[in-house]
Amino acid sequence: MDKIVMKGGAELHGEVVVSGAKNAALPILASALLADGTSTFRNVPDLADVATMLKVLRTMGCDAERLTARKKDVCEVGVNGAITPEAPYDLVKTMRASVLVLGPLVARFGRARVSMPGGCAIGARPIDQHLKGLKALGADIHLTEGYVEARAKQLKGGTVNFDVITVTGTENVLMAAVLAKGRTVMENCAREPEIEELARVLNKMGARIEGAGTSIITVEGVEGLTPVDHAILPDRIEAGTLLVAAAISGGNVLVKHAVPEHLDAVIDKLREAGCTLTAEAGGLRCKAPRTLHSVNITTTEHPGFPTDMQAQLMALMCVSHGTSVISENIFENRFMHVPELHRLGADITVQGHTAVVKGVKTLSGAPVMATDLRASASLILAGLRAEGRTDVSRVYHLDRGYERLERKLRALGADIKRVTAKA
Ligand code: EPU
Repeated sequence: MDKIVMKGGAELHGEVVVSGAKNAALPILASALLADGTSTFRNVPDLADVATMLKVLRTMGCDAERLTARKKDVCEVGVNGAITPEAPYDLVKTMRASVLVLGPLVARFGRARVSMPGGCAIGARPIDQHLKGLKALGADIHLTEGYVEARAKQLKGGTVNFDVITVTGTENVLMAAVLAKGRTVMENCAREPEIEELARVLNKMGARIEGAGTSIITVEGVEGLTPVDHAILPDRIEAGTLLVAAAISGGNVLVKHAVPEHLDAVIDKLREAGCTLTAEAGGLRCKAPRTLHSVNITTTEHPGFPTDMQAQLMALMCVSHGTSVISENIFENRFMHVPELHRLGADITVQGHTAVVKGVKTLSGAPVMATDLRASASLILAGLRAEGRTDVSRVYHLDRGYERLERKLRALGADIKRVTAKA
């Protein structure tokens, strides 16, 4: 298994470019199932999760490939023949976002058989709201042998009121509603930029969606959609992670392609901590003093502070002056990075869904283990500041959601490299 080996202490300087957004790419690739023909997606990040989604689509009979050579960021998904509308356990267990094929499959092919995703490192993560939404559109749903089986000759528009705000749940039901007969009103929807982006793509394909990015989305069903050519928006969580890298190193970095409006809550917290954040042509700059102040953080749904940035901000709070209270309100088990940060010398106490972080003067490098995607990012951020050598193992978690993070940090001046395990 690969590991990241780093030595802390360098201030990061320069410019870095953000890749396309993982959490937009995954539903958008699945949305290609809604039309006959080949859709082309650009700015698709080269990530393990994207490779898994392409594999899920190929398993069903789609032509789904990343173009190589000069067009590495381009993926084509072709629906050109018979489709087997099934996502098997082996793939869904490696990536729960595979469940995003459920809505398009039942809408387009009248049936779907998709393995139930189990719990994962950060929480139980049920899909009851996805199923509630599809049922409201007339799908007949059964759970057998660990699979969700959904059927509907023709979905019909209806009202869906989500009990819980869910990102992929909103996306799954939206992708089903576009081909349902009549009007669907979705209430209490997630408002993430990735949902607006999905709606943008679906509308380009011929869908009639209004209100994406607000809590009420209205869809007028259409009879069919056509393939699309679309460049995916930049990843706000990767951008946020790079801003924190600048902050924790006391550096000055321009994060190119970062969209400030997608990062309001993160920008507020970094400013409160003492950083100077400025929107510049083509990106967002973070300039940091060597010592920052503690800030309190409460994760909530967008536009609140994102749970996907909680671990990274916690790394920053470990070396900030004062005491920070961090409350995680989205997932019940998203403090797995805490014991690993302790190994680097952090002072953190967890009680329930709250962590109290007392800033320390120095962290000291150590071998640590990544437990999930954002946890691995937080360990690398802490390693940027820790004295001496930090080895982060299990970096396959990192590769699910960051495109060559170590190369981007090295180009900014970090002493960091990947050590590839010999087979
Ligand atoms: N929930 C339910 N029932 C459902 C769906 C969700 O109770 O049917 C609960 C979840 O258990 C959780 C909360 O609702 O407590 C929010 O979960 P949500 O469904 O919004 O999460 P998700 O759609 O599974 C997406 C991102 C995650 C990100 C969350 C929250 C994708 C592919 N994944 O997951 O991204 O943390 O929204 O913003 O979009 C990551 O990139 O590291 C990551 C985990």
